[in-house]
Amino acid sequence: MRSLIDILELSLEEIDSLIETACDIKKNPAKYADKCRGKKLATLFFEPSTRTRLSFEAAMYELGGNVLGFSEANSSSASKGESMADTARVVSGYADIMAIRHPKEGAPMVASKSAYVPIINAGDGGHSHPTQTLADLCTIKNEKGRLSDLTIGFCGDLKFGRTVHSLLAALSRYTGIKVVLISPKELCIPSYVKHETIIKSGMEYTETESLEEVLPTLDVLYMTRVQKERFSYVEDYERLKDSYILTAEKLAASKSDLIVMHPLPRVNEISVAIDKDPRAKYFDQTLYGKYMRMALILFLLDEKQKNTEEKESPYRLVHGKKCTNPACICSTEQELPQIFKCVNEEEQIYRCIWCDSRAK
Ligand code: NCD
Repeated sequence: MRSLIDILELSLEEIDSLIETACDIKKNPAKYADKCRGKKLATLFFEPSTRTRLSFEAAMYELGGNVLGFSEANSSSASKGESMADTARVVSGYADIMAIRHPKEGAPMVASKSAYVPIINAGDGGHSHPTQTLADLCTIKNEKGRLSDLTIGFCGDLKFGRTVHSLLAALSRYTGIKVVLISPKELCIPSYVKHETIIKSGMEYTETESLEEVLPTLDVLYMTRVQKERFSYVEDYERLKDSYILTAEKLAASKSDLIVMHPLPRVNEISVAIDKDPRAKYFDQTLYGKYMRMALILFLLDEKQKNTEEKESPYRLVHGKKCTNPACICSTEQELPQIFKCVNEEEQIYRCIWCDSRAK
């Protein structure tokens, strides 16, 4: 059975077809209004969310289905110490498909190993966020007309911004993409994303601390919030939180057909004066997100009926190493097997299958 834990589990053809379905739903909503009649989506949100959870719920309602779930960890048995695996197995009996958001990296993947229904990763710690990527790809395709030959700037918290990690992975498969990574050194892209996603794919990239310097070269600017909740020390957050603020004056130097994206919520990294500018696409992006989630729910429920086998890992898997990432789900769920994938045989680089951090 198929789930969606990582964006790379979808082929380029499948992503194209999801975008096509999303656009069709937008044009002909009545055609889809009964597609999920009698089906239930469970939303298990162990971390705050507005857009992701509500767009999943709206998506299921607009398909004629029903929704159950919770929006904070305290209202679930996780607060009593129940494991992710047990929660997922139990909820499998109550719903046809599940969307899970969790502060621990790898939690939705753990759920997918024990659930009997498809699991959708709705964001796991600072790791990944594949359904935001579907929203992002749909936005770029519709607003720029293509997913190739683009210069895309990522600005802000590239270290903890999971939407950035997933979108970079997705973009690494298209041709002619140049990425410009704009962040303070302390918030630069994690090494696993840089090596396993950017360098391995041969995608052209540059790194800079200056937004002003590169803004005129960009076709797409992807702004992000500094992820307060992932900092160990609040002083570090305070020092870095205002690293970038996009103002109308700065935007004046950009191309006239630039699009400005942001997964939202915004704190103050984009001045509200920009909202009226035709280049601002972040509110449209939230709507594309709902249509893409509708398309994804239809796709996974259809795949479920086909009973497709789970694909085998393309990597050699090994046991006997230890994950030292405190944000990994294995740091709290002690009985989880510690499994590592060898992502580079020559240099013997092993990464945790749950959170992708490198084995020491
Ligand atoms: C993002 C997230 O949760 O990672 N929001 C979202 O899902 N739209 C970005 C963020 O919280 O900054």
